[in-house]
Amino acid sequence: MKKIVVMISGSGSNLEAIAKACQTGSIPASIELVISNQPNVKGLERAQKFHLMSKIIQHQDFDSREDFDHALLEQILPIEPDLVVLAGFMRILSSNFTEALNGRLINIHPSLLPDYPGLNTHKQAIENGDLMHGISVHYVSNVLDGGPIISQGALKIDPAQSEAKLINRIHKIEHAIYPKVIADIVKGHIALQGDQVKFEAESHFGPNHMEFFNV
Ligand code: GAR
Repeated sequence: MKKIVVMISGSGSNLEAIAKACQTGSIPASIELVISNQPNVKGLERAQKFHLMSKIIQHQDFDSREDFDHALLEQILPIEPDLVVLAGFMRILSSNFTEALNGRLINIHPSLLPDYPGLNTHKQAIENGDLMHGISVHYVSNVLDGGPIISQGALKIDPAQSEAKLINRIHKIEHAIYPKVIADIVKGHIALQGDQVKFEAESHFGPNHMEFFNV
C-alpha cells in the first residue's frame, strides 16, 4: 500500500476529501500521518473522525524556519511516504524541506497560478474584476506557489456573489480535483521528471490541463 502524509493548518476540508477517497479505494493509499502546525483546528477533528494519526508541530516552538522544517522532516522521512500532500498548510517551507521531498511533495493553491501566489487570492480576484478564478495543483519547488503545475480548475466569477460564496465554490473544485491528482500520482500515472510533469496515457490529466467547473 502506498503511503501518504497530509499537512494542514486549518479546516481540513481537503484532508477530508482525500481521506474519503482513501477509504473508498479511489486513492489506493493510506494516510499514515496528518501534521498540523496549528492546534485546535477543525482539520484535527476531521483526522480523528477518520481514525488518522495526527501530530501538532507548532512553528512558534522553533527558533528558525530551518529548525521547524527539520522537525517536520524528522516525523515525515521515517515513514518513507510516497507522497506528501500540502492541504491548506499555511507556512512557507525552506529549500531543505522541499529538496528532501523533491518529486514527492504537492500543494493545492486557490488561484489560477501564476496569478496570485500567496494570500488573499479570492479577494484579489474579486477586486481586480477578474472574470475567472480557480485552483492549481502543483509539485512544490523552492519558489513560493511556484513549482510545475499538474492541473487547474476554473470557474466564472459572479460579481454579485460574496467572497464567502466564491470560497465555497472554489472548495468544491478543490475537492473534485485534488483526490484525482493524488490517485494518479500514487498509481504512477503522474510523476515529476526534472522540472517537468510527466503524464501517462492513463492519467485523468495532461499538459496544460484546465477544467472548467460549473459549480
Ligand atoms: C484551500 O482553499 C487551499 O487551496 C488553501 O487553503 C485552503 C485550505 O482549506 N491553500 C493555500 O492557500 C496555500 N497557499 P481546507 O483546510 O478546508 O482544506
